[in-house]
Amino acid sequence: MTRQAPPAFPLSRPRRMRRTPALRALQREERLSVDDLIWPVFLCDGESVTQEVASMPGVIRRSVDLTVEAAAEAHAAGIRVICLFPYTLDDVKTPDCAEAWNPENLTNRAIRAIKAQVPDIAVMTDIALDPYNPDGHDGFVEDGIIVNDRSVEALVKMAVAQAEAGADILGPSDMMDGRIGAMRAALEQAGHGEVTIMSYAAKYASAFYGPFRDAVGASGALKGDKKTYQLDPLNRAEALRAVARDIGEGADMVMVKPGMPYLDICREVKDRFAVPTYAYQVSGEYAMIRAAAGNGWIDGEKAMMESLMAFRRAGCDGVLTYFAPEAAKLIRAGWE
Ligand code: PBG
Repeated sequence: MTRQAPPAFPLSRPRRMRRTPALRALQREERLSVDDLIWPVFLCDGESVTQEVASMPGVIRRSVDLTVEAAAEAHAAGIRVICLFPYTLDDVKTPDCAEAWNPENLTNRAIRAIKAQVPDIAVMTDIALDPYNPDGHDGFVEDGIIVNDRSVEALVKMAVAQAEAGADILGPSDMMDGRIGAMRAALEQAGHGEVTIMSYAAKYASAFYGPFRDAVGASGALKGDKKTYQLDPLNRAEALRAVARDIGEGADMVMVKPGMPYLDICREVKDRFAVPTYAYQVSGEYAMIRAAAGNGWIDGEKAMMESLMAFRRAGCDGVLTYFAPEAAKLIRAGWE
């Protein structure tokens, strides 16, 4: 047997296609667009009020009037969806969580104000009892147990109130069983069959939500943890079952949350179900990038853009990110 001499040059030279910006653009597989960004914002009471969120440098809470202004600016910058989270004071938190479906609560007032003045931006909401619950839990707590069906009844009322206020996308983040089907039925009955639902379907019990709980004023309140309703970080099949269930119950879009530690789940959800799939780059992910950048340990802009591109590569149609306004600016300036 004659042995062939090894070639004097590599047969494959993938670096040829990486040599210039033009060639790299030619073989780029995904694009990150401003259309992919959903901007979560925090609301607070008052007029012309802003408040800093200590654990999320660069993120502020805004009163409704300033939120409308921010929505108008975001819309002008190309952002198409804004997602509202209320900071609620202790005096509106009651065991029956009635503020959650009050048509005049902070979220519902903000929805109406935004839709009146910036009608083309889609308004997304959060559905869970935690901002209104003295226990800080997403459902009612009875004798130390987070009860399911009674919580779903309350969440449904919250959903209908938000739809009445004009929300375009409802975001149930509570992880109770059966809530998507119950909301879908109630929306149809109330004449809001057109309202879409983005289910927080694969939502993990995560330490990365810490800064968010400060931002909405729930961290001091939370008793215990959320492991009886949110997913175990070690579980993949369970997440897929949760997604399948929510699609079956009438969710239009599904979300994986947090984002970066769960990119494998994003990819699998997209491949298996072929439904509109989103990731939530949560408060802790944001805080880590900001903190490292603030210390000069990483380049904040590059790390931010890389983190957002990763969601596209993982199959997401979009991403909820506190970086949305900054990222939109860089994308429009031609970032690559
Ligand atoms: C509340 C809710 C949470 C987030 C969004 N909706 C926190 C939680 O489940 O405790 C987290 C968002 C973030 O960390 O940025 N149900």
